[in-house]
Amino acid sequence: MTDMLAPLLRVDSSADGAESVTRRLTSLFVERWRGEVRHRDLAADPVPPIREPYARLGRRVERRGIVPLHDIAALVADDDERREWDRTLPLITELREARTVLLGVPMYNFSVPAALKAWIDRVTFPGVFANALPDTRFVVVTARGGAYGPGTPREGFDFQEPYLRTYLTNLGVRPENLAFVHAELTRVGDLPALAGLEDLAEKSLTRARERILELTAA
Ligand SMILES: Cc1cc2nc3c(=O)[nH]c(=O)nc-3n(C[C@H](O)[C@H](O)[C@H](O)COP(=O)(O)O)c2cc1C
Repeated sequence: MTDMLAPLLRVDSSADGAESVTRRLTSLFVERWRGEVRHRDLAADPVPPIREPYARLGRRVERRGIVPLHDIAALVADDDERREWDRTLPLITELREARTVLLGVPMYNFSVPAALKAWIDRVTFPGVFANALPDTRFVVVTARGGAYGPGTPREGFDFQEPYLRTYLTNLGVRPENLAFVHAELTRVGDLPALAGLEDLAEKSLTRARERILELTAA
């Protein structure tokens, strides 16, 4: 990976702490990173779900087409909208300033955690990423209790990668700037239904760690 000195934005969303597989993998990524790191922990410091004044301001902005980020404040109509915009602008700025974004994403109910979705809904304010992300790299590190690869009984149940791939490419992220790293079968020690799959779980974690080392290699 080039441009190691540009800021890295690490976004964690696991409700687990030290036990979290995604947090351990995003920590490994950060240990290998040689530039500035900014950390947003959506479990410890949740982003509030969007409210009606956010939607109202969003519609007003959309009617004007693409509005430069710093002109949006002038369209705020009241204190409720101001409060929503004040909660939103720093998150958008942080994301636009990052050259690499590292997302730690546990699988919850076949999809992404609500904490991450609340952040996505808030940062994706109308128009603010138009032409802003062509050089931004995204590394998405997921962990799943089960397995979802080809030939598994739950093939087709993975609504994490397809959702995030569609969301990010629609936002303007180039496919070559998007990498997914999956650790599967993480609940093998807890769920009797997964007994006997310990080796596969170990291999999946080893592959995920190796992939992170590759992605952070100079
Ligand atoms: C609320 C919740 C929902 C979950 N849903 C799923 C699921 O749909 N499929 C699955 O394979 N594992 C599921 N799991 C297990 C997690 O994906 C697994 O524990 C993973 O390691 C979570 O990432 P983390 O270790 O970084 O927290 C769920 C766990 C929780 C807490």
